[in-house]
Amino acid sequence: MKRIFVTGALGQIGSELVVKLKELYGSRNVIASDVKDIGKDNYEGVLFEPLDVTDGERFFKIVKRHKIDTIMHLGALLSAVAEQYPQKAWDVNMMGLYNALEVSRELECALFTPSSIAAFGPTTPKDNTPQDTIQRVDTMYGITKVSGELLCDYYFKKFGVDTRGIRLPGIISYKTLPGGGTTDYAVEIFYEALRSKEYTSFIAEGTKMDMMCMEDAVNAIIKLMEADPSKLIHRNAFNATAMSLAPEDIASEIKKHIPEFKLYYDVDPIRQAIAESWPNSIDDTAAREEWGFSAKHDLASMTELMLEKLSIKLNIEYNPPAA
Ligand code: SER
Repeated sequence: MKRIFVTGALGQIGSELVVKLKELYGSRNVIASDVKDIGKDNYEGVLFEPLDVTDGERFFKIVKRHKIDTIMHLGALLSAVAEQYPQKAWDVNMMGLYNALEVSRELECALFTPSSIAAFGPTTPKDNTPQDTIQRVDTMYGITKVSGELLCDYYFKKFGVDTRGIRLPGIISYKTLPGGGTTDYAVEIFYEALRSKEYTSFIAEGTKMDMMCMEDAVNAIIKLMEADPSKLIHRNAFNATAMSLAPEDIASEIKKHIPEFKLYYDVDPIRQAIAESWPNSIDDTAAREEWGFSAKHDLASMTELMLEKLSIKLNIEYNPPAA
């Protein structure tokens, strides 16, 4: 990777990936873009270009003008929003990816596309879900993710485009809020723990989903894109996880820091149905073996990090327990 273009750069992952890429590859070698026009050409110290990813012509022009060799295509609608606006989700997620693939083919770029635990459905084995398994998904987000995985594999096989992807779990971060996902509760819970010492979860007790701290997700994306291609048996997309959590697991860890914290439930049937169609835990052996994936944060270190960073961000006093 030398010159990197990031779509969806203002989103939860993009906003942190851009900063890390800038650190590693230099501010002049990273170009950020998003459908939201911030009205200036600088974002986090790198060049910013507004781009609606469904606009293939503009996508092509920007990548060509900046002599990009790697595209990180993060612009997409998340699961809950996609379920609300399925037609728009198909349009943005599939047309956006198609344009990213075509631009990569024409301008010989490598392409990273995030897939998701949403690429698994109700008939997928739920525990320790294998890398290669049944993917009969039943959400629009999942359909765009499975179709995307297949399309990326096709572009690699047919045109030699260097496509790579990760089935990301719920990502926990303190900088930018996720926008309309099913795993969002696992971020909100930390904000509310500090603000009101209680949280009402829209996901039911006992519903396990895979999660990962943002730092691990960003490092994984970069590591995969830098991996030796001859070692990659799979490409689109690798299972990767750090922990499998239900709401009460996070709550009991928070209680170690904020003993009065209380967890309530008011289950949202739409997001609960999505969550129930996803695995409880996935097996990421292929990612570990083929490109050395590993995650640094577990539930304890993630909880500590989230509470510490958010207390600064929200300006809420919080006394970490003595070590
Ligand atoms: N965090 C994502 C979502 O909930 C999973 O890909 O939509």
